[in-house]
Amino acid sequence: MRLKGKVAIVTGGASGLGASTANIFAKEGAKVVVADLLQTEGEAVVSEITSSGGAATFYELNVTDPSGWEQVVKNALVAYDKIDVLVNNAGVSGSTPDRMNIDVWDQQMEVNARGVFLGMRAVVPAMRDAGGGSIINISSMSGFVGQDYVHMGYNAAKGAVRLATKAAAVQFAPDNIRVNSVHPGVMPPMRSSQTTSDPEVRKKMIAAVPLGREGRVQEVAFANLFLASDESSYITGIELPVDGGYIAQ
Ligand SMILES: NC(=O)c1ccc[n+]([C@@H]2O[C@H](COP(=O)([O-])OP(=O)(O)OC[C@H]3O[C@@H](n4cnc5c(N)ncnc54)[C@H](O)[C@@H]3O)[C@@H](O)[C@H]2O)c1
Repeated sequence: MRLKGKVAIVTGGASGLGASTANIFAKEGAKVVVADLLQTEGEAVVSEITSSGGAATFYELNVTDPSGWEQVVKNALVAYDKIDVLVNNAGVSGSTPDRMNIDVWDQQMEVNARGVFLGMRAVVPAMRDAGGGSIINISSMSGFVGQDYVHMGYNAAKGAVRLATKAAAVQFAPDNIRVNSVHPGVMPPMRSSQTTSDPEVRKKMIAAVPLGREGRVQEVAFANLFLASDESSYITGIELPVDGGYIAQ
């Protein structure tokens, strides 16, 4: 098992890419903390894991709340003694029809950028105590390039995640904490997606993907698995696109 003995926190673990990551991590032997705003959905992910013999716990968390983070870290340490892996995956979509909306810009920065910073800030002391760790920050292909169907706040926030990841990789390397970013491409729509849920828009998005199809949530989860495991022990500060070749063009 590729994560045997490791403890992992997955934010946004109640849905989509996060739920798949939580499931695959647990199958590979990790004890998983599913942290999300959505309690019912998060507890369902935990039941799925535990009913197939894995270990997982749900904690309610708003990633924008520093004291909520403190509590989740405290609870995880009580439950599982240490934290080896954080997947900063929680996020909100920027696919809104009003691309000049100020509140959307602010929400993007608050959840998608600041939430990731707060997560790193909260887990680093525990990782230091454990002798190291792996942090995986979920950015997007939108952290590299713009799209006409996405609010620019989403690109700006995902770009911030990309660069903050590199800063963290450099700053925490002496503590043996690796920090990498993963950049999904066209995946199934997020719960909060608006314009990108429209079948006509999706057709155009998929037409721009060299591999010619939407990505599967497991394809991102497996990239996360590699970066979480010791197989990637000499890899830090990278940006890993999982996008069917979208940004290679
Ligand atoms: N779906 C895509 O096309 C796509 C593409 C590129 C990148 N991403 C990124 O992948 C990540 C996961 O997206 P997904 O497709 O699984 O979407 P999703 O909507 O299915 O899941 C996101 C999860 O994050 C949670 N969340 C949102 N705000 C939160 C907050 N403040 N505190 C705690 N939890 C919160 C939601 O409740 C939800 O469970 C996001 O960061 C997203 O930006 C998604």
